[in-house]
Amino acid sequence: MRRRLLLLSMLTLASGYGQKKNDDKSVKIKPKAEFVADLMSKMTVEEKIYQLVQFSSDGTVTGRKSGDNYITRIQQGKVGSVLNATGAANNRMIQKLAVENSRLKIPLLFGHDVIHGYKTIFPINLGMASSFDPAAVEKAARVAAVEASAGGIHWTFAPMVDIARDPRWGRVSEGSGEDVYLGSKLAAANVRGFQGDDLSKNNTILACAKHFAAYGAAEAGRDYNTTDMSERVLRDTYLPPFHAAVDAGVKTFMASFNEISGVPSTGNKHLLRDVLKEEWKFDGMVVSDYTGVNEMIAHGFAKDDQDAAQLALNAGMDMDMVGGTFMNTLKKSYDEGKVSIEVINDACKRVLDVKYDLGLFEDPYRYFDEAREKENTYKPDFLEAALDVAKKSMVLLKNKNNVLPLKKDMKIAFVGPLASDEYNIIGSWAALGERDGRAVSVKEGVMNLLGANAKVTFDAGVELSGNKSNMMKAAYANALKADVIVAVMGERENQSGEAGSQTNIDLPGMQKEFLMQLRGLGKPIVLVLMNGRPLTLSWEDENIDAILETWWSGTRGGDAIAQTLFGDNNPNGKLPISFPRSVGQIPVYYNHKNTGRPYLGQSDSEQKYKSRYTDSDNSPLYPFGYGLSYTKFDYSNLKLSTAKLKFNEKLKISVEVTNTGNYAGDEVVQLYVKDVVGSVTRPVRELKGFEKVNLKKGEKKTVTFELSSDDLKFYNIDMQNTAEAGDFEIFVGGSSDATLNGKFELVK
Ligand code: NOJ
Repeated sequence: MRRRLLLLSMLTLASGYGQKKNDDKSVKIKPKAEFVADLMSKMTVEEKIYQLVQFSSDGTVTGRKSGDNYITRIQQGKVGSVLNATGAANNRMIQKLAVENSRLKIPLLFGHDVIHGYKTIFPINLGMASSFDPAAVEKAARVAAVEASAGGIHWTFAPMVDIARDPRWGRVSEGSGEDVYLGSKLAAANVRGFQGDDLSKNNTILACAKHFAAYGAAEAGRDYNTTDMSERVLRDTYLPPFHAAVDAGVKTFMASFNEISGVPSTGNKHLLRDVLKEEWKFDGMVVSDYTGVNEMIAHGFAKDDQDAAQLALNAGMDMDMVGGTFMNTLKKSYDEGKVSIEVINDACKRVLDVKYDLGLFEDPYRYFDEAREKENTYKPDFLEAALDVAKKSMVLLKNKNNVLPLKKDMKIAFVGPLASDEYNIIGSWAALGERDGRAVSVKEGVMNLLGANAKVTFDAGVELSGNKSNMMKAAYANALKADVIVAVMGERENQSGEAGSQTNIDLPGMQKEFLMQLRGLGKPIVLVLMNGRPLTLSWEDENIDAILETWWSGTRGGDAIAQTLFGDNNPNGKLPISFPRSVGQIPVYYNHKNTGRPYLGQSDSEQKYKSRYTDSDNSPLYPFGYGLSYTKFDYSNLKLSTAKLKFNEKLKISVEVTNTGNYAGDEVVQLYVKDVVGSVTRPVRELKGFEKVNLKKGEKKTVTFELSSDDLKFYNIDMQNTAEAGDFEIFVGGSSDATLNGKFELVK
């Protein structure tokens, strides 16, 4: 009892800034600028520096931890933010350490990687990008925010908006693929979903645009590797999704691990201060990646922790994730005149501002409510949303002789290491998503759909990555008796993702060999893929009847896959990234430049000195934007509202899309533009619009896009972001290789 009384009186003391305990109503406090200025006027230099320190709790770590005197440090007010602590009760306990003990009782900020769901897991981000559906992506982020905030989380390190054109890089799985336009739309959708319309509500969380910048351009696809590129490529290709996140109001940024043209992003003043904070007027805060500040020593950019910390802070870094360099050295650098009070104040203000935005000064416990946590975990409508998005993420890559959809009374042999899997199906970076016992496997999905009388068998046949082959017999025997074989194969969940770079992106282990043996049976084979990156599937494309790319499809993945296989869901996803024919082609992406000797399929004698491979086509196996449906869509009657577009006018482009097949279906209608001549060369085409339409069997709809000169801007020869007068070609269709075309001229 005495202890409780003591705690209570400490809580009352803690209400110096209007803080109240959990069950009290929040109190009104001064407007942000005034409140934060008041608070900062009471802070010592050290206290300001400590706000810039993020510690890791004992949760998952992706590198070294902060040290073991974590609790004492929090009590002393020496920590601004905690990483990887989860759960309403747990985080309340940690928050109490700060607000009841530290001198100024400043609440902690709790961050966690909520990447594609918190408990209810959605498809991996590359999968969600395949939906080409910003509303679906926004919904997924909203659900994740509601669930995570109820679990005591204030801040997610998402979305990852890195443009990624190299499938050897495992982290392609975490982003929206290779395209600037799609990536920008989905960056904004994610920010809206996580942050909602009012950050001070207890069900909205801070989003974080990461990894700033050009992390996806790592040389040779090796994670954390060097990038080197022109300022023009950086600005035209890699920065726009970040800028879109800023425009959508994102409150935090994370710097990337890599260096760009000799300067690590963590200490990159041009990037963090000049571009982000000055040019884009970003008023939120920037966090380093995990020990990214210390890593500038290994980069050869800083000589020790103190040097690294002052370089980072001066460059515009506001918070040191886990590395301890700010905590241990910034005061010394301040005393030695290496960092100014203005720079410290600016960083501290940005951290306090986001805490204010979340309403933490009104009520530091506002996110810690166990009843709300219980009610908002795996809620039926969250699970329904996860199913819906998973269905929208499936991409049908091949469907020879319309093998799919399968008939429900067929005898089907499901084989492959992922046929009954509940573990891998939710993918990597799955936060607190439960796997075995919670995630719906393909087997469970099929049984949910077909019921107990289904004529189906399930056998792994081979391991996911090992080479044990003694399991093949049973699978083979069941395949022999079946009308059709469905092979569920792919990668291990953490094979893609961070530190998951590979030089070989074939189906791993013995899976391909097993497929080859099954092929010998002469039965129709459907390959259901689960993976986090494009795989090289040239053999499969030639030899397998149908291929369905399902990525890692989340908690309800098995249901979505079953409903797609049996036609209750007509697949409508499109690839957000090209699938190469072989690793040797990488990077292969649709919006490349033409070269002076483009290979356009010339005859043998003419093709020798063209930009081509002598042993492979230039084109990818499956291009960006590609994806089949069980029905067919025809495009016709392309019309442009004018042949001459003035700079201040709008061009309307309309096209008729008709469902000429046998099923109702959704189609992602895509608009591509080519700027024919520029003061610098321009890509062969670029996505400038897309719209998903639903068409009943036989139905026709007109889809209209609008373009203005703003949509045609790029960094010209003088590094001005502008459109240039001249000829443009447009292409409209269901993939980046669309052929229906028109032209217009942009005139002054
Ligand atoms: C390292 C990863 O690069 C980053 O994406 C992640 O947010 C942090 N670790 C925190 O877990």
